[in-house]
Amino acid sequence: MLDAAKAALRKAVRPVTFSGAGLSAESGIPTFREAQTGLWAMYDPMALASPEGFATDPELVVGWYNERRRNVASAQPNAAHCAMAGRQDIVHVTQNVDNLLERAGANDVVHLHGSLDRDKCSGGCGHREDIDLANPLPLRPCPLCGHWMRPDVVWFGEQLPRVGWLRADQLAAEADVFVVIGTSAQVYPAAGLIATARRADAIVIEVNIEPGATPGIQLTGPAGRIVPELLSL
Ligand code: OAD
Repeated sequence: MLDAAKAALRKAVRPVTFSGAGLSAESGIPTFREAQTGLWAMYDPMALASPEGFATDPELVVGWYNERRRNVASAQPNAAHCAMAGRQDIVHVTQNVDNLLERAGANDVVHLHGSLDRDKCSGGCGHREDIDLANPLPLRPCPLCGHWMRPDVVWFGEQLPRVGWLRADQLAAEADVFVVIGTSAQVYPAAGLIATARRADAIVIEVNIEPGATPGIQLTGPAGRIVPELLSL
């Protein structure tokens, strides 16, 4: 399977990766849906990752995100991030809100679900601020319009950032090899990129610690071991 996947990648003209929380798991960042350890097994996503939850208790939401930010700040990119960053010929589309691909040196990353390293105005005035993940700012009003500032991430019920989504959709539609890394592929529209790539006849390679059920080349094991093997030339 690994040899077939490497051969497909060697021939690829428009290779794309599509990653999720499993990519950063070995850096100590929790995933969302794994039993016991996933964030959504421990916390209520509607209270912490929805506009309604933020309206109910903005301080709780910002405090929770700031804890995640400090966790990312103290984490290091793992071998999978580094191997991906080393392939400047591949565009990386990710659902992850951490910055570990960039810190590994990747310079073309499409963040479908936003980034922890920015805040934006919850009132929609467009004001944004960069955030130091090690020292995130507490809940505070937007200096331009007075609404609360909030993390610039996508919450349940919200639309994906338009420019990033259009680019990712086009990349999937034009990909000849589409490498899916560490995602449960349950959250749409992001997960729909896999079907888009398939419709375009891309070879789909899936790297996951759990055996996958989807058609394509399955590489079962931790991303930190499999991805460097897969992406080495
Ligand atoms: P999930 O938690 O749903 O899935 C993580 C996937 O990673 C699972 O399929 C695991 O089997 C796999 N996995 C875990 N450890 C791994 C490892 N070391 N190597 C390889 N695979 C591993 O996370 P996502 O699919 O990223 O959205 O979730 C998608 C979205 O749902 C997230 O972006 C987030 C969440 O709600 C928002 O916050 C909007």
